[in-house]
Amino acid sequence: MNRLKINLKILKKEAKKEIEGAKNLKELDEIFRKYLGEKGELRQILHSLEKISKAKKRRAKIGKEVNELKEFLEEKIKDKRSSLAKVTESKEEWVDITIPGKKPSLGHLHPLTQVKREIEEIFQSMGFSVVEGPEVENEWYNFDALNIPKDHPARDMWDTLWLKDKGAKLLLRAHTSPVQIHYMEKNQPPLRIIVPGSVFRHEATDTRHEFQLYQIEGLMVDKEISVAHLKAILAEFFKRFFGKNTAFRLDPDFFPFTEPSFNVSVTCVICGGKGCNLCKKTGWLEMAGAGMVHPNVLKNSGLNPKEWRGWAFGFGLERLAMMKYKIDDIRLFRSGDLRFLNQF
Ligand code: PHE
Repeated sequence: MNRLKINLKILKKEAKKEIEGAKNLKELDEIFRKYLGEKGELRQILHSLEKISKAKKRRAKIGKEVNELKEFLEEKIKDKRSSLAKVTESKEEWVDITIPGKKPSLGHLHPLTQVKREIEEIFQSMGFSVVEGPEVENEWYNFDALNIPKDHPARDMWDTLWLKDKGAKLLLRAHTSPVQIHYMEKNQPPLRIIVPGSVFRHEATDTRHEFQLYQIEGLMVDKEISVAHLKAILAEFFKRFFGKNTAFRLDPDFFPFTEPSFNVSVTCVICGGKGCNLCKKTGWLEMAGAGMVHPNVLKNSGLNPKEWRGWAFGFGLERLAMMKYKIDDIRLFRSGDLRFLNQF
């Protein structure tokens, strides 16, 4: 019996030391299992007690001591558990279940794509079809068919990017107007189309110019078509696109493929017409070239100019987006800067 008593003493001492030295809750659980668990040391002592001692009284006495030890250890473990929990709480293991979940960041369409789709919808609702054409053109479609003969100074209006080639003079289209010819070659009027697409120019960049940009060409061919139709369509488009009646004006201009020719300007939204850097203090921003389709262009597309008449325009898509969202630098669109893109 004495031996058992000594065992309990040693056990108490050892267990106490282990509990105090536990570094985390996992270790503490192991210590609990070792001494107080189903197969723990205290249980085993109680079992062995049954075998060696028949005397009830003694058994009860030792049993009491084991129970006291059990309570003592339980208390110790409890204390240690709460002090360990406090430490972990202040460390990284602590999980705040009230923090809202992390939202996966979803991508979205580029502002130019959004604006392009919006414009397409507006024109489609007015009976226009959306048509595309090639980005690599030959001289005929980009210039000659559009009434811009070789060696004519008007060619210099488009700072063309030529492709290295073997024989055929190919270029990156400088405007979407060549698609007028492609479409009229294959389709009989009456027709209404818009042509969104990339165009390329050998040009120095600044807040208003880029060497690659989007244009939206418009073409309407029918009998008895006049500038009045052009103005009406433009007015309706601006109203729907900018969401209010927007002042715009047609000024005389020159394009070899339209006669008469205009440029279309809207009030600068940045300064409200007062004059700022973007509109070069004029209060107006040029948005498009336009005019009545030149008879030679109809002829070059296989149509009889005595029978058909039409108008055409060419919008800069970036310009339209800049006006709508008050963006003062065209270079932002292709900068890939998320601080800019995430605003749309
Ligand atoms: N293609 C012309 C340009 O790029 C714009 C334009 C289109 C002008 C249609 C008149 C008619 O400058």
